[in-house]
Amino acid sequence: MKIVAPSMLSCNFGELGDEIEMVNKSKAGWFHLDIMDGVFVPNLTVGPDVVASIRPLLSIDFEAHLMVVDPDLLAPLYIEAGCSTILVHAEACTHLHKTLATIKDLGATPAVALNPHTPPEAISQVRDLLGLVLVMTVNPGFGGQTYISEMESKVVRVAEMLEGYDCDIEVDGGIGPSTIAAAAAAGANVFVSGSALFRDPEGLSLIHI
Ligand code: DX5
Ligand code: ZN
Repeated sequence: MKIVAPSMLSCNFGELGDEIEMVNKSKAGWFHLDIMDGVFVPNLTVGPDVVASIRPLLSIDFEAHLMVVDPDLLAPLYIEAGCSTILVHAEACTHLHKTLATIKDLGATPAVALNPHTPPEAISQVRDLLGLVLVMTVNPGFGGQTYISEMESKVVRVAEMLEGYDCDIEVDGGIGPSTIAAAAAAGANVFVSGSALFRDPEGLSLIHI
């Protein structure tokens, strides 16, 4: 199943209620929350209290993309806030297997995100724990960056590695009308999109892929 996940990062926070209502009326499958701590990436976003306050406004699942240096500390807080999928970066997890197992024990879907420089083999020993793998198609930290098409070969390899596993493959960064088809052809089935959905009046048509 193909899923589009609008990224809250590109919402106009001064009109958050209206933006969320637009997502509610769309065919979005999940709501993507970019959680940044100002250390793992040079940007800051929202804490779990903000996520908990938005949670009742949307019926679709929330996924928290944790771009933080201490996912073990923060993952439980975002699960408590109502996120059903927790994405941790392989680069931030010394004990990735343990971190994913803990997320699963807490009742959420464990997921791994791979920065552009991280090889697909980073998931090889944790595949049985994963519900989702995110191949970053930009370096994380900001919306509106240029899609790195070289990541498509990584998506292909991840798809090969996940044959026989019940695991979605997501792409995040620069996804819009001109890039989504190639990412899908490589094997992705979940598409995070920020600027293309929220900055372009026609952006929500992407939802109909
Ligand atoms: C970047 C974030 C993305 C971002 C995508 O660090 O992980 O989720 O919001 O934004 P666009 O679609 O504008 O690249
Ligand atoms: Zn993201």
